[in-house]
Amino acid sequence: MKQQEFKRYLVTSALPYANGPIHIGHLAGVYIPADIYVRYLRLAGRKVCFVGGSDEHGVPITIRARQQGVAPQDIVDKYHFQIKESFQRLGISFDVYSRTSSGIHHKTASAFFKKLYDSGKLLEKETEQFYDPQTRTFLADRYIVGTCPRCSYSDAYGDQCEKCGSTLSPDELINPRSSISGSIPEKRMTKHWYLPLDEYESWLRKWILEDHKEWKPNVYGQCKSWLDNGLQPRAVSRDLDWGVPVPVEGGQGKVLYVWFDAPIGYISNTIELFPDTWETWWKDKDTKMVHFIGKDNIVFHCIVFPSMLKAHGGYILPENVPANEFLNLEGEKISTSRNWAVWLHEYLDELPGKEDVLRYTLCSTMPETKDNDFTWKDFQARNNNELVAILGNFVNRAVVLTHKYFNGLVPAAGSLTDYDKEVMRSVPGMASALEDHLEHYRFRDALKEAMNLARLGNKYLADTEPWKVAKTGMERVATILNFSLQLCARLTVALDPFLPFTTAKLRNILNMSRPLPWQDLARKTLLPGGHRLNEPVLLFDKIDDTTIETQVAKLKKPGPDKKDVAPALAECSFTDFEKMDIRVATVLQAERVPKTDKLLKLTIDTGLDQRVIVSGIAQYYAPEDMIGRQICILANLAPRTIRGIVSQGMILMAKEPEGFMRVISPLEEISNGAVVG
Ligand code: MF3
Ligand code: ZN
Repeated sequence: MKQQEFKRYLVTSALPYANGPIHIGHLAGVYIPADIYVRYLRLAGRKVCFVGGSDEHGVPITIRARQQGVAPQDIVDKYHFQIKESFQRLGISFDVYSRTSSGIHHKTASAFFKKLYDSGKLLEKETEQFYDPQTRTFLADRYIVGTCPRCSYSDAYGDQCEKCGSTLSPDELINPRSSISGSIPEKRMTKHWYLPLDEYESWLRKWILEDHKEWKPNVYGQCKSWLDNGLQPRAVSRDLDWGVPVPVEGGQGKVLYVWFDAPIGYISNTIELFPDTWETWWKDKDTKMVHFIGKDNIVFHCIVFPSMLKAHGGYILPENVPANEFLNLEGEKISTSRNWAVWLHEYLDELPGKEDVLRYTLCSTMPETKDNDFTWKDFQARNNNELVAILGNFVNRAVVLTHKYFNGLVPAAGSLTDYDKEVMRSVPGMASALEDHLEHYRFRDALKEAMNLARLGNKYLADTEPWKVAKTGMERVATILNFSLQLCARLTVALDPFLPFTTAKLRNILNMSRPLPWQDLARKTLLPGGHRLNEPVLLFDKIDDTTIETQVAKLKKPGPDKKDVAPALAECSFTDFEKMDIRVATVLQAERVPKTDKLLKLTIDTGLDQRVIVSGIAQYYAPEDMIGRQICILANLAPRTIRGIVSQGMILMAKEPEGFMRVISPLEEISNGAVVG
């Protein structure tokens, strides 16, 4: 079992975008393998820093914010904390989980860019980009929509058509328009900074293709194909107002490209954790850095970020980037927009106490070498046929029999039969295979090997039949149970990286006061004779069909965009509709109604008059968001007195599927009193 020893291990896991919750695809691809690896390293006594955090910049976040009428910071605040909490509940054991909107990160990313700029490592180029004349902003590709040249879908994005899946450039769109204002975009010159990746090509070829032949074939292959196709300079800035501002002359109104700042987030988060010693983690050659990512992140972690680190100088490079492929769900690609996903926070709420079942299933079906499929049936089978029937059953039999025959005290072993010796001889080989798999990022094989210890135990009990032997003499039973209990104790070590909640429970049953170190896997006696066990509890329960059917049925429900759409109402006549006096108005004043948390008192100009409307929107809008805003009102609704204030009319609002309310405002200014109909 010799492994090259490093002084410390810096393990990073891709920073998820804080614009939506975590799903099983993220977990199987990145966070489960990373967590298994660091838990193993820690048990083995290595010095580890496990870095995580939220990626809070980028265009999709700004689009989402705009759609919901909130600030980008509101979006990332919501998801950062939700994601952080759900990771913690699943036992993902980050040493730090911070965020790229933090002050430390802005400072770090900014200084990194400045250093590259000052040392002449960046190119400056002016190019033509699409510009929205109405909002006076340059448009990211995602903000341009138009007709797809391939399939004629009318709402294709400037970078991709979601209908036919083609990758597009905004120039290819027919009738392009700005998705912000609807206006026709113009081309304007704008300046950006580029990292000349072509200059790093030969260095990258040697570093990856020659020096890192051991990388996983899927990773190595993708790198080779990028390198063989030739690298181009990449823009590292964008015309956007959300992100880390470009800290050099001419950088006003521009920010660092999200893929430039995000990986620097690994550094920033390490600084946040170890303000004084972070440099030993990032600059000392004795640190082994490993990036856990999904396959869509390979180019950024194997080519772009290393080139950035190289250009900067002084930093170590990753030793390995064990990227995974994608996990599908019930035979289809996971899609957040179609809600075809199993969301972690929902799983944790709906299947409490089953954290390890998810960890186990996702590790077993981890897409290590090719895409793989998660199904609820398989989840159920793994729980019932493996966790319950193998692991749970073995532990339970060993502990129950010890209580039955030896009052819960570990019996001392007597003389060994040839069969005993044969079984025991297989243990060290299994332990070292397990270790070798873990060292080489083969987590599915590793889990299988760890479970083999439980399989071995089950088989040993079935073959030796202590419940029968008990009828003739206790000495043999003592030996059988002693070995079985040593195996149970060994399982608390072998399974700890994978199933930390279960091993904690098991240690408790075995009355072990603290986790044993990894090295104890090789020891024969982990529990001394006479050691008292606690009462057995079941490690796992069977999962019934109803539970599984509920989850499958939930998947088949339409996504959040269609979920909870209010049912259609009965037909109404035009005369009915005409009775409603709907008009455009402007909010002049807005204030909270004292002692309520839902109500705003709005004074509005309706064109006809100035009047007061009390509206239940205080949870969704601050008074200052409303002042000066144009809205639509139902002007002839009979007045009502609310909290002592006479409310004359009603504001027209739309209710989002998630339940929150949005005010309907005209896109262009319209005169007050204009009739809507
Ligand atoms: N947010 C990216 C994604 O989800 C990953 C960023 S990884 C980092 O694809 F290195 F940039 F942080
Ligand atoms: Zn198309």
